[in-house]
Amino acid sequence: MRLSDRLKQRGHEADPAAVPPPVQTDSRGEPAAGDGEASAHTPAAPANHRNASRGNGEGAPRTDPKRRLKQRVQEALFSRLGSRMYDSSMSSDELMSFVQAEIAQIVEAEQTPLSETERATLAREVGDDVLGYGPLQTHLDDPDVTEIMATGTDDIYVERKGRLHRTESRFVSEDHLRRVIERIVGEVGRRIDESQPMVDARLPDGSRVNAIIPPLSVDGPALTVRKFAADPYGVDDLVSFGTLTEPVVDLLRACVVGRLNVLVSGGTGTGKTTMLNVLSSFVPNDERIVTIEDAVELQLQQEHVVRLESRPPNIEGSGEITIRDLVRNSLRMRPERIIVGEVRGAEALDMLQAMNTGHDGSLSTVHANAPRDALSRVETMVLMAGMELPIRAIRDQLASALDVIVHLTRLRDGTRRVTQVSEVVGMEGDVITLQDLFTFDFSAGMDSEGYYQGQLQPTGLRPHFGERLAELGVTLPDRAFGEIPVPSSTKVPGV
Ligand SMILES: Nc1ncnc2c1ncn2[C@@H]1O[C@H](COP(=O)(O)OP(=O)(O)O)[C@@H](O)[C@H]1O
Ligand SMILES: [Mg+2]
Repeated sequence: MRLSDRLKQRGHEADPAAVPPPVQTDSRGEPAAGDGEASAHTPAAPANHRNASRGNGEGAPRTDPKRRLKQRVQEALFSRLGSRMYDSSMSSDELMSFVQAEIAQIVEAEQTPLSETERATLAREVGDDVLGYGPLQTHLDDPDVTEIMATGTDDIYVERKGRLHRTESRFVSEDHLRRVIERIVGEVGRRIDESQPMVDARLPDGSRVNAIIPPLSVDGPALTVRKFAADPYGVDDLVSFGTLTEPVVDLLRACVVGRLNVLVSGGTGTGKTTMLNVLSSFVPNDERIVTIEDAVELQLQQEHVVRLESRPPNIEGSGEITIRDLVRNSLRMRPERIIVGEVRGAEALDMLQAMNTGHDGSLSTVHANAPRDALSRVETMVLMAGMELPIRAIRDQLASALDVIVHLTRLRDGTRRVTQVSEVVGMEGDVITLQDLFTFDFSAGMDSEGYYQGQLQPTGLRPHFGERLAELGVTLPDRAFGEIPVPSSTKVPGV
C-alpha cells in the first residue's frame, strides 16, 4: 500500500469541512497555508490571475507565521532524514513512524506555542508534504477536481466542472515543489533535471502529469495534472451539458455503427478524448477493437478490446515504441476497429492507408482549430512520414479515408461544445471539399450569467454518406436533419 494511502487511513484525511470559505483573489495574504480555494470568476488563463495578483498579494504569504513554521519544520525534517527518505530497506510503515517521531521532536523544540490540534495538523501536513504529494493531495482526493495546475510555488489552480479556480494551497518553497515533482517522476523511473527539463509521467491512479522546470519555465517549476476520471462522462452527460444534442448523437451513432471513419478535432482540453470514448461506446459489442494510445485514457465497455500503449525512450534514450509502431503492429492483429487516441505524427500515413484498405470504422482525434485545419494538420503529418508523396495524392487519400469530422471548442463561458459536424465529401480540383452538417448557433447570444444559449443546429444539408449507410442497413434518423431543435436552457455542469 502506498504511504500516502496509509497516512490517510490513519485518519489524516483532509477534512472538507475544514476548508476555509471562498476567498477573493485580493485577500490572498490572510489565511495562507489552508487548502481552500478562491473562485476565479472568469475562466481566463491562469497567467492573467497571476499577474493581476502580483500587485496586491506580493510578499504576504512569506510573512505568515504558520507558513514559516511549517517551512522550518519541513527543512529540519529533510536535513534529519537525509538519504533515509529513499532508503528502500525501510518499509513504508517504518519510514512513516520514523517521520512522525522526527516531526514530533522538531515541533516540540519549536518556540511557537501550539495547541494539540495545531500540532497534529502540522505533523499531518508536513508528513503529507514529505511523503506524499504535498498541497496537491487534497485536490487529488477531491473527485470534483479534474485538473490541477501549479505554476510556481504560490499559484495552484484547479478545474472543477469546466471552470478554473485559484486555490489557497501553496508549496512552502520552490524546493518543495521541485521535490514533489521529482517524487512523481521518480516513481515511474524517469528523472527531471537540466538535461531533461520536461517530463510526462503518470500517477499510480492513472492521472497524467506534465512537469517543466527552469530555465524552460521562467517563473519556477510548473506542474500540470490531468486527473484520471474513474467515471468518465457518457453520452447522456454530454447531452445534459449541452456539448451536443440528441439529433447529433443519433447521427454520430449511425456513423460509428455504419463503420465510417470519424476524426474528432479540437484544441487541448476541449474534450476530444472524452468524445472519442463516447463515440467508441457506439461500437457494437461483437467487434474486435484495438486501441492505441500514448497513455491509456479510453475506457471502453466492450468485451473484446486489446489496449496498446506507446513507450517513451528509457533514461539511456533507447527502447522507444511509437504510436506508429503500434498502428503497424495492430494491422497484424486482425482488428475490426482501430481506435487511436490521438494522431500527432507519421502514424497518420499508416492510419490513412489502413482506412483505405478495409480497416474502416476507425476513430481518432487530432489537435486542430477547425475541421479544415484538421485536414491540413493530418496532411502535414503524412508528410512527416517521409514518403515523398505528392500533395495531391495525400489529399486524395485523406478525402477517401475520412468521412466525418466532429469539432469541439471550449467556449468563452468555459463549456465544451461540439461546434461543427462536417462531412468530408471528396475533391474539387486540388481541394478537399467539406460540408457542414451541423454548426453551433452563436447568434443566440449569452444569458445573464454569461453562458452561451445556442445549440448545434442542422445546416439542412443531407450527408452524401447517407446512401452508403443505407446499403449497410443503417438508416439516418429523420430527426437528425428534419427538425430544427428548439433552443432550450442548457444544463451546464456545476451551475
Ligand atoms: N463535454 C464536456 N463537458 C464538460 N467537461 C468535459 C467535457 N468533455 C471533457 N470534459 C473534461 O475536460 C477535461 C479534458 O477532457 P479531455 O477529453 O481529456 O480533453 P482533450 O482530449 O481534448 O485534451 C477532462 O477533465 C474532462 O473530464
Ligand atoms: Mg486527449
